[in-house]
Amino acid sequence: MVAQPHYIREYNRLLRNLRKTSASETETFERAVGGGFKATGATQAKLILGLAPQAPFHLIDVGCGSGRLAYALRNEERVSYTGFDILPDLIGHAEKVCERPDWRFDAIYSLALPIEDDAGDMIVFMSVFTHLKPDEIKTYLSEAVRVLKPGGRIVASYFDADDPQHAKLFPPAPVQYLARILGRDVLRVRLKRKDLETWMRDAGVVVEQALTQGPLTQHVMIARKPSTAEQNGQAQL
Ligand SMILES: C[S@@+](CC[C@H](N)C(=O)[O-])C[C@H]1O[C@@H](n2cnc3c(N)ncnc32)[C@H](O)[C@@H]1O
Repeated sequence: MVAQPHYIREYNRLLRNLRKTSASETETFERAVGGGFKATGATQAKLILGLAPQAPFHLIDVGCGSGRLAYALRNEERVSYTGFDILPDLIGHAEKVCERPDWRFDAIYSLALPIEDDAGDMIVFMSVFTHLKPDEIKTYLSEAVRVLKPGGRIVASYFDADDPQHAKLFPPAPVQYLARILGRDVLRVRLKRKDLETWMRDAGVVVEQALTQGPLTQHVMIARKPSTAEQNGQAQL
């Protein structure tokens, strides 16, 4: 039997455990994405809308969870939206609370995104790279470049290995290891900004900025897929 990837195995166990200690399914689904459903979602939405084109645009939200970001964007007519997550129950909740039948919500079980090339104007990974290993992040970045239109943006939040405030949010390694074994937590990682920048560049995008003082607890890296002219060498990057 093929072993399940750690993110599927651990997130499903975490969800089972959250169910045992939550008063309702809604509470379970909101806790599964870290809580702060409305407030954090609104902050994420403000960030995304500030970086998005003014014209209608297609947002791909990888690891959308129970719809924290999607819910905050649900009244934005200019947004067309595709959300992917590994937990079908969370996806179902997101779909239900957003009430946007024109939006797509789909479960995925690997790091391949079931969407065509050049489909999105922006792809976001909010608090997703915080749960993946370097090779998995690199795979997602190459998928992101494939599914973005030329000129489209990647927005990824992460815990920074060099930020002492982030260090305080991480329990000692043995405690975290035990929590994972018991199904009470999932893999959590802090990344070096330079590593993430290198992986982004290797995937073929131009790193525009890393927000280190933003409104979110995590840092946010923003990168852009070169335009067609840039790809053809007709413009300076
Ligand atoms: C901390 S939550 C953040 C959810 C959402 N992005 C937000 O900010 O509200 C992490 C989410 O990533 C999902 N996830 C974990 N590994 C994943 C993977 N390999 N591909 C897609 N989603 C994943 C989890 O199921 C969970 O919903």
